[in-house]
Amino acid sequence: MKTNELREKYLEFFESKGHTRVASDVLVPTWDPSVLFTPAGMNQFKDHFLGKVKLDYTRATTCQKCMRTGDIDNVGRTPRHHTFFEMLGNFSFGDYFKRDAIHWAWEFLTDKKWLGLSPDTLSVTVYKDDQEAADIWNQEIGLPTARISFEEEDENFWPASAPSQGPDGVCGPCSEIYYTAPGREELEIWNLVFTQFNRVGDPPDNLRPLPSKNIDTGMGLERTAAALQDVETNFHIDTLLPIVHSAAEVCGVKYQYEGEDGRRLRRITDHVRACTFAVHENVYPGPNKEKYVVKRLLRRAVLDGHQLGMREPFLCRLVPAVVDAMASAYPELKETTKRVSDVIAKEEANFFGTIDGGLSRIESVFDEMRRDNRLKVDGGVAADLYQTYGVPPELFESLAAEHNLAFDWPGYEKAMDEHGEASGKLAHSVMDSKGPVDSLKRALHKTEFVGYDALECDATIAGIIAGKPPEDHLCDSMEEIGHEHLVRVVLDKTPFYGESGGQVGDTGRLVGKNFEFEVIDTQKDGQLFIHAGHLRSGKIVGGDKVKAVVDPDRRAAIARAHSATHLLHHALQKHLGSHAQQQGSKVDADWLRFDFTNLSPVSADELSAIATDVKQYVASGAPVEWQTLPLADARKQGAMMLFGEKYPDPVRMVSMGPIAESAFSRELCGGTHLTNTAQVAAFEILSEEGVSAGTRRIVALTGKRADDLVHDIDRAADAAAKLLGVGPGDLASAVSALLEQQKSLKKAIAGGGHSGAAKYKSDSQAATSHEQKKLSLSEAARQLSVGLHDVPARVEALLAEIASLEQQLDEREAAGPLSADILLEQAEALDGVTLVVAETPGATPDMMRKLIDAVRQKTQPAAVLLASTQGDSKVTLVAGITKDLQDRGFSAGKWIGPVAQAVGGGGGGRPDMAQAGGKQPTKLPEAMTVAKATAAEMLER
Ligand code: ALA
Repeated sequence: MKTNELREKYLEFFESKGHTRVASDVLVPTWDPSVLFTPAGMNQFKDHFLGKVKLDYTRATTCQKCMRTGDIDNVGRTPRHHTFFEMLGNFSFGDYFKRDAIHWAWEFLTDKKWLGLSPDTLSVTVYKDDQEAADIWNQEIGLPTARISFEEEDENFWPASAPSQGPDGVCGPCSEIYYTAPGREELEIWNLVFTQFNRVGDPPDNLRPLPSKNIDTGMGLERTAAALQDVETNFHIDTLLPIVHSAAEVCGVKYQYEGEDGRRLRRITDHVRACTFAVHENVYPGPNKEKYVVKRLLRRAVLDGHQLGMREPFLCRLVPAVVDAMASAYPELKETTKRVSDVIAKEEANFFGTIDGGLSRIESVFDEMRRDNRLKVDGGVAADLYQTYGVPPELFESLAAEHNLAFDWPGYEKAMDEHGEASGKLAHSVMDSKGPVDSLKRALHKTEFVGYDALECDATIAGIIAGKPPEDHLCDSMEEIGHEHLVRVVLDKTPFYGESGGQVGDTGRLVGKNFEFEVIDTQKDGQLFIHAGHLRSGKIVGGDKVKAVVDPDRRAAIARAHSATHLLHHALQKHLGSHAQQQGSKVDADWLRFDFTNLSPVSADELSAIATDVKQYVASGAPVEWQTLPLADARKQGAMMLFGEKYPDPVRMVSMGPIAESAFSRELCGGTHLTNTAQVAAFEILSEEGVSAGTRRIVALTGKRADDLVHDIDRAADAAAKLLGVGPGDLASAVSALLEQQKSLKKAIAGGGHSGAAKYKSDSQAATSHEQKKLSLSEAARQLSVGLHDVPARVEALLAEIASLEQQLDEREAAGPLSADILLEQAEALDGVTLVVAETPGATPDMMRKLIDAVRQKTQPAAVLLASTQGDSKVTLVAGITKDLQDRGFSAGKWIGPVAQAVGGGGGGRPDMAQAGGKQPTKLPEAMTVAKATAAEMLER
């Protein structure tokens, strides 16, 4: 079966099982910073597995272009290793699982309609715990137990050894299918992964179930084709052998499997195919990341060609053979054949220019080493070879390995550093690096943290990173001054705390002989501390000595908040129960946020008691101490440990309490703390609220910020209490009485009745504590629906409103009761029409409209105009007439106009009902006369 046919059959088979055929993802997925090249079919579906994307389909099948560089030195030497290869796969996103995956794999492999392999040639492995998969293979498929073996996580977990060694992310146990043809070696052809976990951090308890169970499988296209074509290596299948033969022809040698030349031709074949695909996707040979991999592969292949006698570019001439072999699956390659060969030719020409010099230098190095009996290639020599002859150190390393010589990587890096060479430095590790921080991590491993004891130290600059990811890069020096350039600096040693465990990173300065750098944040990446900030003056150079100085005031403020967080945690558990455990926290300068488990809101009284407790711990001046001890000892001493949380061993334990033995709080914590609880100085809770079901959040302040808040609260409580003429402790009751009074006054005015509410009187003259004031103020604020600080203003406005309501009611009561009957008593008859023009003191516009309606119901035709005054600058007028008068051309809107003018105002409205206002109550008597005269005029017409 031809390779193209196998590819097509696979996709067709899974389409027949309801899978959507999805195109191969790109080879260089720039969207995924965790890999340089696509390593497997599942890569493009990571978010599908994590449940992060909306699915258009739940089953997919692909043939994916992949590249893996981990076994690069085996390429050409072994029958099966490649850099570039194709992976066939079928995927389930929460759809089918183990059983179907196994049954379908078996059907595809053995059914005559598909691959038709004899069942006797197949065997499988399963993960040691996965009896379920073993049972399916044995009981349902009928595979004898002798051909089912159980393996450890290094074989039967994907990614390999993920549980114990990572990486984090989606993973699961797998079952591998092996094929053994008569007379040939056993060959793994298909890996079925039961992707059901998301790995987070180190064991134990680091495998979290994914939102749903998934399937990810990978069948090596080349190796399965080799099995079906019954050839001895992958390089002998129908899509690769033509490239091998072209390479032999171009290099003028005859291809034979055995021997060094055969290995070289296979390596050339693999590398030129990989580079054709990469350059096709615009990844050109260069100094970093994927580009460096392309450069390295090309130079390695050029070296092979050189050793076969080539002295000028030849790889470029193989590009058409690659395109021919691959174009039926990837027709787009045909469009870039010329560009790809030009790019490859140029890189080849560069390397051919220096290769002779480089190789003879390498040979003499090996000779010298043999003579002197040295076994390790000098790093300095390797650095020199890279810089002068462009020989990648990895290439040098593998040439050395052929002579059983080791390679001195640290020495190489040191030498590159001394040359002040940034590009190419650490180049060997870029094969799987994500960026400059990772490179530094590998080179430096860790920054020594001295910040528990010191706020200043002397250090050396180990790395300078400029630019934002993904464009960020290491530089040797930096002169870009100012805000717009965010620079990251790594030191060998630092007193700066890097953000972790909820505590923010330190700020401060790095001062060198020739520069000053302002640190605005410190982050941690692994064990590396990264100081982010701006160069303020001068020039910063890698290797410079610096004085690293943490901003001491801010650090102290953060320590106050962090130590207070432990006190709060303790008080919460004491008052609410041991379930009130930390769910998360953020600690900043004199500010803390603490999330904890509790089903219901914490009542104001409980909150007050909790705050009082924390304040007592502060006032008690208990020592704060920390020590590093074995995890088991910490547990024995009762350190607070969170279920499911992973702790290092040994751990750092922070204790607070009179003496170590009777400490009231013991927590495992890496943060920076005070040495005595009294240094918290002040503590004040700002808010308590829910963040999600069962989780509450408290935000609190410490130090001067807490002090300021206390004073603000006391001031607000005192001011509001004074306005109400009560003691601050009685504020809430007074406000509640006030609201009652307002309600009853409004009702009295609307209904014409009397207000029955009495004012709240307080006789408490006792001194009120801050906690009492706060409770009372909070309750008042809740009743008034305003913030604590707004209570006095709101109380003031409420008092004014009540005064005015009372005045209205008094005026009304002085004027006697209002009713339609009383109005009718004052009515005049005009031309057969009942005319009412009257003052209704204290009546609101609404009441006036209701009175007019009442009159209209009692008699018609009728015309009514009512007036009331508010204070000495406001008049309200409302006029209304019956329907029959409207038919006679009388209009309330027109009537009210001249009347309003008479009191210095204006207005109008509909023919049946109109409202207007004026500003001169003193003119009201005149206006009433105008009202009567206007009515008479309108009726005459
Ligand atoms: N993702 C699995 C592998 O690469 C199928 O082996």
